Amino acid sequence: MKAKPLLKALVLSGGEGTRMRPLTHTIPKQLIPVANKPTIFYIMEQISSLGIKDVGVVISPRTGELVKKSLGDGGRWHFNITYILQDKPAGLAHAVWVAGDFLGNHPFLMFLGDNLVKPGFEEMLGTFADGRCDAGVLIKPVSEPERFGVAIVDKHFNILRLVEKPRDPASNYALVGVYLFNENIHKAIREITPSARGELEITDAIQRLLETGGNVTARVQEGWWFDTGCKEDLLEANSVLLDERCTRRIEGGVDDKSHVEGRVETGLGSSIYDSVVLGPVVLGEGVTVKNSHIGPYCSIGKNCTLEEVRVENSIILDDSVFGMVYLKESLVGRHCRIKGNSAIEAAVTLNLGDWSEIGPAVVSHRNTGLTKGGQRSGDTPS
Ligand code: TTP
Repeated sequence: MKAKPLLKALVLSGGEGTRMRPLTHTIPKQLIPVANKPTIFYIMEQISSLGIKDVGVVISPRTGELVKKSLGDGGRWHFNITYILQDKPAGLAHAVWVAGDFLGNHPFLMFLGDNLVKPGFEEMLGTFADGRCDAGVLIKPVSEPERFGVAIVDKHFNILRLVEKPRDPASNYALVGVYLFNENIHKAIREITPSARGELEITDAIQRLLETGGNVTARVQEGWWFDTGCKEDLLEANSVLLDERCTRRIEGGVDDKSHVEGRVETGLGSSIYDSVVLGPVVLGEGVTVKNSHIGPYCSIGKNCTLEEVRVENSIILDDSVFGMVYLKESLVGRHCRIKGNSAIEAAVTLNLGDWSEIGPAVVSHRNTGLTKGGQRSGDTPS
């Protein structure tokens, strides 16, 4: 008897990430942290917990090296990673196409590298394992189905039709970013053509499977699901994950004028002086907080300094410095310098890429040819 081919995993980590600019100019979307951990690491942990040993990661020419450097050979999750270069972001089905050699005739679990799905979809794997279906998808009711691939289902949740980002959605069930396929998906992908936006859509490929007699099962995802493709969704994922996973673990110093309340994690070498920190909050290693109010729902990366600031519901990456500012719902990249010019008053919302600087204007007379009084040098005062 022939042994059944083993289940592989495919993680899509190419794409352009245009909706998350400017940060995605320098950081692949999948490496942007949620609760101080890159999004794609959550997926790797899930794959590891399922015992899958062979993982393909689709990467792009622009960001692939950064993804490789971050994930390595997969050893830390006890599996082996094969990197697959997709030369252009031509769609999710195109990504499967280019992974054809890696996938062979193995069934596979496909993850979108920027989607976070609450673990618990293993049941779908069980249904799939008996070999009676060609694809398994997760669906979830959403309030803006036009932003997603949409499934029209009957009352037993059999899929009748799939449409990618419909203008006028006939259902509010979106496709969650985890899919199961057997080898029949490859033929379906070769039979579809690019959509109006020029991509080979995975929804079209699944639709093709259906039309050619394939069996596609759907399960409703009960737990949370975040497509962290834009700042608002990323911040929401951050608050839910902090709520679920943040513990109280103070590894850094806290002076006796500070008040650290609730589930707060601080990294080694961090220091809190004369401040209030209200969990859930994670502070990375080497963070300094002075005369500030941090939280709730903040993830602050390594080696940041915050002095006389207030921050709520925000993600701040490593190595940034803040003074005299009140941030809310902000996403701030690495190595930023942000300084307000007066006592903290109104909150601001920032969306900044790496190396951004914001500060009070400093009047410079260096290149203007003006003297301090506003006259041109050489003018005769009247
Ligand atoms: P999307 O969020 O649909 O696309 P994108 O990453 O290009 O983002 P935007 O629309 O903001 O420009 O992609 C979902 C996931 O799939 C994400 O992890 C990137 C990955 N992907 C590929 O690997 N190859 C592709 O061709 C595309 C379109 C996406």
